[in-house]
Amino acid sequence: MTKHITWYAAAVLAASIVTPLGMARADGPDPIATRQAAFFLNSGDFAYIRSVVKANGDVKQLETPAKAIAEWAGVIPTMFPKGSEHGGDTKALPAIWSDSAGFQKAAMRLGDAATKLATDAKAGDSAAVAADTKVLGEACGACHKSYRAK
Ligand code: HEC
Repeated sequence: MTKHITWYAAAVLAASIVTPLGMARADGPDPIATRQAAFFLNSGDFAYIRSVVKANGDVKQLETPAKAIAEWAGVIPTMFPKGSEHGGDTKALPAIWSDSAGFQKAAMRLGDAATKLATDAKAGDSAAVAADTKVLGEACGACHKSYRAK
């Protein structure tokens, strides 16, 4: 019996050792897959904001998606822990880690733009929301230019 248990323990240990890096990890969510999924959700919110602005729709409904982008902006820097530089199909560039202050600033720029948009949307100020949308898009592009591979 004791022998059986030992065998089982050895097999489990061996299996955990050979699990390749970059696959789903037993110790938590895969940061690369998680951040990529969140960026796609974020991009859906942004596309929705743009479509409502373009159609001269009711900007009041844009408060929630703008807040969602602001929330996400606040956690972006935590989604690039050491050890997630490589793996999966990540497009993260090394500058994220070598210039982490600049990366945090780029995330903050996104957060500030989204927060302003949420405030102007709540007030129903269509002209301000249209201008904010442009600023928000520039914040996405500025970060991608320095920190995301093409
Ligand atoms: C602070 C930097 C930063 C900001 C701001 C930012 N992104 Fe990104 N984004 C990245 C990085 C880095 C990746 C690559 C992540 C990976 O592959 O691990 C990425 C990936 C993505 C992806 C996944 C698909 C792909 O092409 O890799 C989409 C979609 C995306 N971003 C959209 C947006 C949109 C829309 C905004 C603005 C609303 C935005 N991002 C703002 C840094 C940023």
